[in-house]
Amino acid sequence: MKKMNEAEERGIVIVGGGICGLATALALHRKGIRSLVLERSECLRATGAAMTIRANGWRALDHLGLGSLLRKDSVHIDGFGTMKLDQGTKLAKSPLSKGEARCIRRSDLVEALAKDLPHGTIRFRCHVISVKLDPVTSYAVLELNNGIVIKAKVLIGCDGVNSIVLRYLRMNPTKFSATCAIRGLASYPEGHGFDNLFTIAIKEQVAVGRVPVNDTLVYWFITRLWIPTDSEMSRNQEMIKMSSIKAIKDFPEEMKQTIQNSDQSSLSCLRFRYRAPWDLILGSFRKGTVTVAGDALHAMSPFIGQGGSASLEDAIVIARCLAQKISESNGNMVFEKCTVDKCEEALDQYAKERRMRLIKLSMQSYLLNKMFETSSLVVKLFCILFMAVFFRDSAGHSQFDCGHL
Ligand SMILES: Cc1cc2nc3c(=O)[nH]c(=O)nc-3n(C[C@H](O)[C@H](O)[C@H](O)COP(=O)(O)OP(=O)(O)OC[C@H]3O[C@@H](n4cnc5c(N)ncnc54)[C@H](O)[C@@H]3O)c2cc1C
Ligand SMILES: *[C@@H]1O[C@H](CO)[C@@H](O)[C@H](O)[C@H]1NC(C)=O
Repeated sequence: MKKMNEAEERGIVIVGGGICGLATALALHRKGIRSLVLERSECLRATGAAMTIRANGWRALDHLGLGSLLRKDSVHIDGFGTMKLDQGTKLAKSPLSKGEARCIRRSDLVEALAKDLPHGTIRFRCHVISVKLDPVTSYAVLELNNGIVIKAKVLIGCDGVNSIVLRYLRMNPTKFSATCAIRGLASYPEGHGFDNLFTIAIKEQVAVGRVPVNDTLVYWFITRLWIPTDSEMSRNQEMIKMSSIKAIKDFPEEMKQTIQNSDQSSLSCLRFRYRAPWDLILGSFRKGTVTVAGDALHAMSPFIGQGGSASLEDAIVIARCLAQKISESNGNMVFEKCTVDKCEEALDQYAKERRMRLIKLSMQSYLLNKMFETSSLVVKLFCILFMAVFFRDSAGHSQFDCGHL
């Protein structure tokens, strides 16, 4: 076991190699800045099958240089189809108001983010178990489960809903929502024949969604209230499939067929977690040279499908702010010459640029989640009213531009 004084010293360390951690490392790399990603799993993870990305997310992917590569694997989604089963099986179609929407496989996204990183940037099987401050250098001291100690001049926690880095910032932990989602992918080798719509069918507190990825692959999800037996069920993909079919017995036959068709290994069941929007208003995004990004900072229930795209935006803004301060302190982008003060300024700039954007996204997701899970008419009405005042353009969030790298 290494002692503290034998610790490995590093410039920028990122905890977590999910979408946000990888995107942050890539954004920094595009600016010529090295970083180290510590990921606890053994290889790249892509739990959750697929995700939808709206115009803001595609803009971020374009800035990262990955837009055209990822567009090749996915069809454009032209609009929405909504079916309220209490009122019959008629599909109400509405076109996409503006901008782009596509659904991509998560594995395609994480592989694209990782492939341009310099060899050795990602270290797998590195589980960070504690974060402390080194009072002498004011570096963050990370202890890993294998006894290794790493000192980081700048630490970025992209370690998801259960973030250990967030605890160091003393922000409140995320909360559990009463809702969960089952997700999967279904292949149709002969072509699925569906319109390129984001189709959603709703009956009481169950919603089933279907989005084509390409002409032979379809992403689907079921959103419903979480029940205690789900924790056991989520560990067994065969049980997830059976429970999914049971949950939607009153839904159209073709939706049941999609789930029947799905690849068992793509299935997962997850209870939503979120950060209360007011935590983002009051919380401090930085302590010393430590900050957080992605779900670690702004976990939100996926009703507006923006958690992943917001993580990509975070990555771009962090890299831009750091690059700017590094070049201010020395013209050649040498991170080693950047002072701790300048690093702190960069992270403050990041916090300043992101705060309002993240408050709005989490507020909108919070209200939609509340509206879905409450049985109180008063609460529902309050949410509708609040939405009508503050989120009149319900897809306005997808117009956001996080700016160039
Ligand atoms: C049902 C559902 C549907 C969604 N749909 C969409 C969508 O359509 N569009 C969209 O944009 N977003 C969507 N999201 C949100 C999106 O999935 C998340 O916002 C995104 O995955 C967050 O990425 P992240 O990298 O911040 O966190 P994560 O993906 O959770 O990655 C965190 C990583 O850190 C690692 N880690 C954690 N702790 C440690 C540690 N101590 N040491 C080392 N490594 C650690 C983990 O192993 C993991 O790899 C959805 C979410 C859910 C639940
Ligand atoms: C759809 O995507 C899957 C997974 O990437 C791929 O195997 C399949 O060939 C694609 N289909 C088409 C028509 O491009």
